[in-house]
Amino acid sequence: MANPVLAIVLAAGKGTRMQSDLPKVLHPIAGVPMILHVLRAIGKTDAKRTVAVVGHGHDQVEVELKSSKGVQCVLQEPQQGTGHAVLSAEPALADYDGDVLVVSGDVPLVRGQTLQALVRTHRQANASCTLLSMQVEEPDGYGRVVRGSEGNVRKIVEDAHASQEEKDITEVNAGVYCFRKSDLFDALRKVVPNAVNGEYYITDAIGILIAAPGKEVRVVRGPLEELHGVNDLSDLADTEVEMQRRVVAALVRRGVRIPSPLHCYIESGVEVGAGTVIHPFTVIRRGVRVGRSCEVGPFAHLRAGTLLDDGAQVGNFVEAKEARIGAGTKAKHLTYLGDVAIGAGANIGAGTVVANYDGQRKYRTEIADGAFIGSGTILVAPVKVGRNARTGAGAVVTRGHDVPDGQTVVGVPARPVASRPPSEPSRDGAGAPRTPRNGKSVFLIKEAKGAKEAEAGVESAPAPDAPPAMG
Ligand code: UD1
Ligand code: MG
Repeated sequence: MANPVLAIVLAAGKGTRMQSDLPKVLHPIAGVPMILHVLRAIGKTDAKRTVAVVGHGHDQVEVELKSSKGVQCVLQEPQQGTGHAVLSAEPALADYDGDVLVVSGDVPLVRGQTLQALVRTHRQANASCTLLSMQVEEPDGYGRVVRGSEGNVRKIVEDAHASQEEKDITEVNAGVYCFRKSDLFDALRKVVPNAVNGEYYITDAIGILIAAPGKEVRVVRGPLEELHGVNDLSDLADTEVEMQRRVVAALVRRGVRIPSPLHCYIESGVEVGAGTVIHPFTVIRRGVRVGRSCEVGPFAHLRAGTLLDDGAQVGNFVEAKEARIGAGTKAKHLTYLGDVAIGAGANIGAGTVVANYDGQRKYRTEIADGAFIGSGTILVAPVKVGRNARTGAGAVVTRGHDVPDGQTVVGVPARPVASRPPSEPSRDGAGAPRTPRNGKSVFLIKEAKGAKEAEAGVESAPAPDAPPAMG
């Protein structure tokens, strides 16, 4: 069996055409930096090691690559073209002999199976170089594959240096290659800098191999939808569309219903259980996990660290961040849930806000099983709401004033409604005992009414002892 292939990813370029300070290979696609998509595809081949050539913004790129197993970064300084980039990786390959897969870091849609097929074809042909080409309608910007009269490859000519006749060629170089290591570096050492811009082109090394006697260079047509290079923001937008199509297709295959796929934005690596419905205009960020038979959206925003247990429902204009939402819990309207753990079977009323940030730090909130948070409640973190506890509509539960299990609190700041014996006037005078009716004080009747109103959710009136206006 052949040696496992070794991969080189080219990621040192500035990406001037992106008009951005962010290194090109870090631009996110479906929430994941472009280069990580490429590394994921390489991870599906038999490559055991990958060398990433970094340069422009290398500090930032190296941070992103830190958690990628088997990836070693080498620095290309200054950046003098794609051929020079591969040469910079040579010292890292000193102890390796075999085939080398070279992939541009700006081809994020390429799939592992396509790379592996390239390696297989290359090995079967015992070639010096095998490269992927694609047939495009608009070849501008790409290197053209120039073929002779018998269809044999003669050279690759870059867009900037192509004659008018060559510019009309629609078969282009995809920037994905497999080389025999010794032939690759022998050829690269013969490449001369381009007369116009002083760059060393990897495509010129291919030309050198084509011209060398006894060296086989193969061009294999690859799948167009995987090989679009990202060179500007318009390419980036096109790539997002294709990546979204893939994300949605993968979820739908696993039993998730997405009635309007073009109107959701779901990042890569989001996990969703079967039977869940994701309604239109929902945004789900990387790392979010949604259980089975949940309902999400329309217009929901599930941010990093959020987890929905089975049967949870998160509806219109609800934003959740670092939120654990228990089984069957509902938060259906106009709510912010930040840094919060909510148990099972809870109801989060419309307009609830978890105030998790005091301007300096973020704090966590806990809402236990079966809790009922009345409409318009503000929970100032850190705070806990106990099992089956309730808050009245408009209540402001202040930090550290935990609500015990089964307790109902109302008002601003929120206070228990059932904690005062009926004979005692309250401190603020509200709810003083009045004429008993049927053995119950009016106060208690009012209390009971307040609790009922709190349960009414969206429609509920202000809590009995809430001030008339709230900030
Ligand atoms: C390159 C190919 C072109 C091909 C196209 C496919 C060359 C000369 N041209 O053009 O034939 O059609 O890809 O997408 O190779 N990079 C470095 N160091 C450098 C320069 C670039 O690491 O000094 C990296 C970039 O970060 C990028 C990759 O190499 O990931 C390709 O560079 P880019 O400038 O995008 O080349 P293209 O113009 O797209
Ligand atoms: Mg490119």
